[in-house]
Amino acid sequence: MSMKKLLITGANGQLGRELQTILAAGHAPIGPIDGSWADCDVVATDVDELDITDTQAVMDFVSAGGFDAIVNCAAATNVDGCETNHEFAQRLNAEAPANLARAAAAIDAVLVHVSTDYVLAGDDPMPQAEDAACAPNTAYGATKLAGEQAVAELCPKYFIVRTAWLYGTEGKNFVRTMVNLGKSHDRITVVCDQHGSPTFAGDLAWEILALLNTQGYGIYHCTANGATTWDVFARRIMANAGLSCEVVPVTTEEYSQQNPTAAPRPAWSILDNKHLRDTIGDHMPSWDVALDEFMATTTL
Ligand SMILES: NC(=O)c1ccc[n+]([C@@H]2O[C@H](COP(=O)([O-])OP(=O)(O)OC[C@H]3O[C@@H](n4cnc5c(N)ncnc54)[C@H](OP(=O)(O)O)[C@@H]3O)[C@@H](O)[C@H]2O)c1
Repeated sequence: MSMKKLLITGANGQLGRELQTILAAGHAPIGPIDGSWADCDVVATDVDELDITDTQAVMDFVSAGGFDAIVNCAAATNVDGCETNHEFAQRLNAEAPANLARAAAAIDAVLVHVSTDYVLAGDDPMPQAEDAACAPNTAYGATKLAGEQAVAELCPKYFIVRTAWLYGTEGKNFVRTMVNLGKSHDRITVVCDQHGSPTFAGDLAWEILALLNTQGYGIYHCTANGATTWDVFARRIMANAGLSCEVVPVTTEEYSQQNPTAAPRPAWSILDNKHLRDTIGDHMPSWDVALDEFMATTTL
């Protein structure tokens, strides 16, 4: 069998980097990469090599590349930024996935498009499975939902993989921000009434490659198991980093009084990895185990 060819877009972001790392290593913390993707030919692109908002460039690049699969890791992920620059968010989160979907369909490739819990209402304490009603409250969530809909409509072989509270080795994320704050502050305030499952991007990348061994196209939720709040997450980060910074809980209401321009954040971001469980099994670790291992093996 000939070697499979994989295109990564947005490859310099958190998920894109972790996907490249596990492909190069042949394994993630969860385990070895299974099947034909373990030794695939990887073409990693970010905006300089392939701007996914450029419809013609995407079609040309994908057609010429003859890819078996595309994993789109690019997005406008700055939630407040999407609110103030709706047009940019729409282009990158909604129109660009449509470009990728059309291009993938034209060569019969599989498209993995990564999405977010922000497409849901975020007001239900129960873990949300893939059939939960979508009702985004932010420009980020609304544009990501439009991207999902375009992918499902335009590309027959699609996986939409929703995640939440993502962190990785590279880039801006909560773990790095807390470590930096903890080094320079004795005390910080962190929101205590928003719930979710911190998810290591390397584990998500592993599940994406595992899904690519199947033809179970559709929508998947994929976060680490268990749930917590930002302040508990922050305390564990401080403890792992050996920092004595005190984490003082504040409510969302108190936080938004101090930061009136911030976009609303969901109180409940807990996803149920039901489709994953039913298709390939849910290999995602508990968020705390994954965090401890990540921090023990990563220089932040
Ligand atoms: N971060 C989270 O907590 C979180 C939570 C839920 C879901 N997600 C989803 O998970 C996915 C991965 O997120 P992430 O945190 O890894 O994202 P990220 O770190 O923000 O990376 C996105 C990458 O896309 C690149 N990019 C920007 N515009 C582009 C364009 N026109 N063409 C090609 N690439 C472009 C960015 O480059 P520049 O940096 O140069 O702009 C960046 O390297 C996204 O779909 C996101 O919506 C993330």
